[in-house]
Amino acid sequence: MRRNSKDRGDDNKLGIAQSPRRQAHSSSSVDGLRVSQNEGAVWREDVSLLVCPACRSPLDVLWSSSDDGALGHVRGACSEVFPVIAGLPRLLLGTARESVVVTHPGWFAAHGPLRDWSAGETPPRPDIQLVHRFDREWKQFADMRPAERTLIFERYFDLVQPKLLGPGNTILDAGCGGGRWAVEVASRGGRVIALDLGQSIELAARHVGPPALFVQADVRDVPLAARSVDLAYSLGVLHHIEETDLAVSRIVETIKPGGWFLIYLYYALDGRGRLFRATFTLVDGLRRVISSLPQFVLAPITTAIAGVVYLPLARLARVLEAVGLKALADRIPLRIYSALSFRTMRNDSLDRFGTKLEKRYRRDEVIGLLERAGLEDIRVSERPPYWHAVGRRPTVPGLDDEAEVESARAR
Ligand SMILES: C[S@@+](CC[C@H](N)C(=O)[O-])C[C@H]1O[C@@H](n2cnc3c(N)ncnc32)[C@H](O)[C@@H]1O
Ligand SMILES: [Zn+2]
Repeated sequence: MRRNSKDRGDDNKLGIAQSPRRQAHSSSSVDGLRVSQNEGAVWREDVSLLVCPACRSPLDVLWSSSDDGALGHVRGACSEVFPVIAGLPRLLLGTARESVVVTHPGWFAAHGPLRDWSAGETPPRPDIQLVHRFDREWKQFADMRPAERTLIFERYFDLVQPKLLGPGNTILDAGCGGGRWAVEVASRGGRVIALDLGQSIELAARHVGPPALFVQADVRDVPLAARSVDLAYSLGVLHHIEETDLAVSRIVETIKPGGWFLIYLYYALDGRGRLFRATFTLVDGLRRVISSLPQFVLAPITTAIAGVVYLPLARLARVLEAVGLKALADRIPLRIYSALSFRTMRNDSLDRFGTKLEKRYRRDEVIGLLERAGLEDIRVSERPPYWHAVGRRPTVPGLDDEAEVESARAR
């Protein structure tokens, strides 16, 4: 929704003056524009952490009630406006806006100035269908048995120092899905900021609750202030988008100097034998066909795959392990599921076979990706899930003060 500067002022005035909610609150004037002063909204406390995904400058609250509002700019060249619906800022550009408008018709009808919010000129990104597919997955599978969730969480987070997840730390979940890892982080005391491009952000927000902040946004335009988090993680997300390098660098920008990034990307079967690889090639061919099928066929087919492929292999690995043949068990494909429930197998089967775009990385490619983003102390876990890796954002000696870092960048 970019417009020329002549239209812009009128838009802002309209956006603020016509909001029925906004008029219920006291207000002040900034540059001739009226800005809401309602202090009751919980999400408002976090606005200083957010930036505009289009121009990357800070956002102002244009109006707010306890759960709703609008963010934008009261001055400057950028005319983007973003709704806050049900306490969640929707910091989206392009076609990603359409599903928000479609799923919240009442909200947009009540807030007239944002009615054409989805009619933006920003070029569409083709992969929004993939995100809708994930939304359906999380509707079905967002809930997980807590003990199993913790078991899997600990596998992904084995390289992260536990104290980084504790009180006093701010942690970004980039591509949170239904919020299963955000729940774990929040339970350890860390302050979670989670984003996802899909409607599943609403599920995740309900799942985790305050004081976590949930934002509907794209990892390629992370709308978070630079150097604002102690740890960022993105698990199972960045192999599903074309612009992985861009997304990693956007996420890394939000990490404080000395802070950490944890990533999980599908591995390219490095280290696996010929039989394993041949089986994979077959399975991958199946994925390409199955992922194009309509949803009503996809769900039963992927459940069937979980039943006839995942379950027998997982149970075989469990038996081999139980009789002391651990080395043999390690060679069984899908061995990682040996202690997991059939529900998790169904979830992962849908995840694997329902997704058209899937990139795979060798260990050295994961390292290269993190190095290009400027990270150091990179470590790739030797344990599954492969590959998950961490890297640290360098501290600039003598430049830890934020203002100094800013001016060093400008130079
Ligand atoms: C396989 S799921 C993983 C979710 C979560 N990390 C987990 O492990 O449970 C991938 C998630 O990435 C989200 N996603 C895909 N592309 C995205 C993008 N460009 N920006 C933000 N989220 C995206 C999807 O909506 C989906 O929820
Ligand atoms: Zn802007």
